[in-house]
Amino acid sequence: MSEVKKPVFQPNPQFAATARIKNMDEYLALQKMAEEDYEGFWDKFAKEKIDWIKPYTQVLDESDTPFCKWFVNGKLNVTHQCIDRHLATRKDKAAIIFEGDRGDKQTITYLELSHSVNKFANLLKNDFGVKKGDRVVIYMPMIPEAAYAMLACARIGAIHSIVFGGFSSEALKDRIEDADAKVVITADGAFRKGKPYMLKSVVDEALSQKSPVQKVLVVQRNNEEITWIAGRDYSYNELIKNQSNECEAEVMDSEDPLFLLYTSGSTGKPKGVQHNTAGYILWAQMTMEWVFDVKENDIYWCTADIGWITGHTYIVYGPLAMGATTVMFEGVPTYPDAGRPWKMVEEYKINQFYTAPTAIRVLHKTGENEPAKYDLSSLKVLGTVGEPIDPPAWKWYYEAVGGSKCAIVDTYWQTETGGHIISPLPGATPMKPGCATFPLPGIMGEILDPQTGQKVGLGESGYMCITRPWPAMIRGVWGDPQRFVKAYFGDIKKEGKAVYFTGDGAHYDEDGYITITGRTDDVINVSGHRLGTAEVEAACAKHPNVAEVAVVGKPHALKGEGIFAYIMMKDEVPFGEEIEMAKEINKVIIQEIGNFATCDDIVFVPGLPKTRSGKIMRRILRSIAKGEAITQDISTLEDPSIVATIEAKVKG
Ligand code: WT7
Repeated sequence: MSEVKKPVFQPNPQFAATARIKNMDEYLALQKMAEEDYEGFWDKFAKEKIDWIKPYTQVLDESDTPFCKWFVNGKLNVTHQCIDRHLATRKDKAAIIFEGDRGDKQTITYLELSHSVNKFANLLKNDFGVKKGDRVVIYMPMIPEAAYAMLACARIGAIHSIVFGGFSSEALKDRIEDADAKVVITADGAFRKGKPYMLKSVVDEALSQKSPVQKVLVVQRNNEEITWIAGRDYSYNELIKNQSNECEAEVMDSEDPLFLLYTSGSTGKPKGVQHNTAGYILWAQMTMEWVFDVKENDIYWCTADIGWITGHTYIVYGPLAMGATTVMFEGVPTYPDAGRPWKMVEEYKINQFYTAPTAIRVLHKTGENEPAKYDLSSLKVLGTVGEPIDPPAWKWYYEAVGGSKCAIVDTYWQTETGGHIISPLPGATPMKPGCATFPLPGIMGEILDPQTGQKVGLGESGYMCITRPWPAMIRGVWGDPQRFVKAYFGDIKKEGKAVYFTGDGAHYDEDGYITITGRTDDVINVSGHRLGTAEVEAACAKHPNVAEVAVVGKPHALKGEGIFAYIMMKDEVPFGEEIEMAKEINKVIIQEIGNFATCDDIVFVPGLPKTRSGKIMRRILRSIAKGEAITQDISTLEDPSIVATIEAKVKG
């Protein structure tokens, strides 16, 4: 396949001089070290980075593969790694800088963080009876108390499961039930674009029927009126007053679960991705150091929401593990205008800025000249995550935001990988727009041919796999070990051994650079939010008049992918009422999943293209949605004429 050769951008020599990994030779030496002595590589970093309560006796136990154990018998506590061990040298250093939607500000030092987390932990333990191993659901806005809540769970060994605040009550209820959570931590609500919005009412709705939840803790943020249920709901602001600043950290085993985070797959309900203690925190810290190269006095800002993995690893755990200052922002990047992020960069002298391509595209489109109005000279590293970044967005980010001097780190990873797995290193890797470049040291990332399991050659495409377990990898799907094996180790075998498959397609260019080309399964990526088409279909089908539905992704200029639904109704939609009906269906999706999952296009069709065995031919539907010519053989369809009918409907 011939393609246009991509331009190469060299790292800024001024920043490279002091980077943790300074050049490609250093990168290659680390990668070689991992290849030659895999366990020795991880042993070195685990000893160097983690403050163990009790050392481990074995680096890696693969006897029950694909279930594996890292740092066997080691004892530690993640909050000790993230807080206590810094107090000797960093107690007055800002751990968290918070900025609210409406511009209110708060700086939390490491000592203050320690007190807040310990008080919170005492509250959960003493007032709520939360014990090691209990599941606690966190449904919170982007406020410091959300980070305290996560760390308080980690302090006492409870397993947190954060549900993104954009999820509906139904989605929240499903996740609460699947995890069998006994406590929910929430807030009255928060602020968005200057106005209050509510969360507590969503929790009330989620708990309105039989529920495993016994107690709800409510943080007051926007002070709007909410309903209180006596004996179930408690005010954080009241209960926290009586707690002690001291709380002993629970001694955790390396492989004790740290958190669950639900994510979408190609089939069935979202799965509870389980991450455990030692391997996760080690990799969170190592990737923070290598990929963002944060220095002692730097200010680092990741714009994600803590409801997604990026917020877990790169707002809370990673930055705090390395003792950095992490900025936490409640608002949206375009309020009050598209200069907001750049205003904050100027004001806080941000050195590393990390966001998603969808945000970059929106900021580019709505505020192309905004960066020029602010002093952005503090910036050194610009990160992107969540979906492939298109070269025009990359170029604007590099030039207009980064002043053509910053490294762009296009970080490729997933909820399941715990941290980055493929990314440029800011001092070392020559960059190409749209390329995640090379696997990080210690990550055995390879593009394999799905049929043969062999590594594909330069210029070739295949499936993005990881051929050895790594410390921060997913440890299981909550309550469903078989699903874990089937979902990640079912498809591809290398030399007869099942390897981890990410679900993404990828390509090596002529220089061996990796470009991620997108999902090969029925997962779509809407504004960096991962959704299963099956999930959206199940939501649509809740509408009483929907007979059958098929959902596909369609390229979208700002969101990356938009959602396109083909719906067959039980009773035909009367002429002229299609728009109203589409709105009704989107309303059902908002109830079942949340606002971010609504369909951009809904087309009512008299039937769906199915094979004689009843399988919906999604590839045909994808082509029609994109307006592409149908190249697939349709003669094997039960009713080939349906394709032309659907095409006419879509064009009409
Ligand atoms: C999926 C994972 C990783 C945190 C946010 C999303 C896509 C992620 C990139 C990138 C191209 C990317 C993949 C992946 N993805 N980063 N830099 N380039 N694609 O986490 O919700 O688990 O989604 O996001 O398709 O499988 P997630």
